[in-house]
Amino acid sequence: MINGTTRLYGIIGNPVRHSLSPAMHNAAFAAMGMNGVYIPMEVTDPAEAVAGLAALGFVGVSVTVPHKEKVMACLDEIDPVARKIGAVNTILFRNHPESGKCISRGFNTDWLGANLALAAVMKLAGSKVLVLGAGGAAKAVGFGLVEAGAEVIITNRSEDRGRELAQWLGCAFCPAGDVGGIAGSALVNTTSVGMEPHIEVMPIDSASVGHFQVVMDIVYAPLKTRLLQEAEGAGCTTVDGLSMLLYQGAAQFKIWTGKQPPQEVMRAALLEELARSTT
Ligand code: ATR
Repeated sequence: MINGTTRLYGIIGNPVRHSLSPAMHNAAFAAMGMNGVYIPMEVTDPAEAVAGLAALGFVGVSVTVPHKEKVMACLDEIDPVARKIGAVNTILFRNHPESGKCISRGFNTDWLGANLALAAVMKLAGSKVLVLGAGGAAKAVGFGLVEAGAEVIITNRSEDRGRELAQWLGCAFCPAGDVGGIAGSALVNTTSVGMEPHIEVMPIDSASVGHFQVVMDIVYAPLKTRLLQEAEGAGCTTVDGLSMLLYQGAAQFKIWTGKQPPQEVMRAALLEELARSTT
């Protein structure tokens, strides 16, 4: 029940009306018997939003597209890893013990989401992982894999952007036309290719899918993308797009509350909300 002691959380972005995060975090609060609520907030000006959230006594918020980079300039503190990645997806508000002033601190849990989603099915240290894409999602995934000691190879439609990310990560780049020659432990699609409504499109040639033991897609609509269907057909272990969302969310919950949330409950809530939003 929402009352005078309910702790406030949410997500700021634009758009956010289709976000699955409220379902995931609210299910965790309910399962843990915690008096918290997590609400979606469509925001155009992150600076005004952060000031307002601090004034209203919010404990924490998620930050999503298009504010992950711009919000950094509005925060009092930035976690060193988020600073290095150059993007914040989590804000924690706390009161300074002496002055009582509200301090906002930005974190990034996206990289951890990718890292944990893959680590749940394979050993990352020493593995060879091909990452498709070079946008913000690829940066987080690549960073998480490099942190875990994996050998990462980036490939991307636009070669310049791909090479730039590979250089930033300190890893190899493979031109899109040469990807067929690569075999490795895992393949991760970080592009939007295969997302509804263009569900028949593949981000890599079908013939190459079987060159990897594990195939992960960050697209979750549809949940079983054509890439994952073909990977299953080729005998690969698959990791769906809800996994990264789940693990990055679980890491946010821990930052805000200090508690480890029930991940099975969060995943069930994500699946339920996804089914609701697509019917
Ligand atoms: P995000 O921050 O969510 O990762 P982004 O920065 O727009 O989003 O990056 C999208 C990624 O998907 C890019 O790597 C993009 O390739 P380009 O750098 O060549 O634009 C890739 N992508 C998007 N649509 C694609 C398509 N139809 N075919 C191949 N790659 C595509």
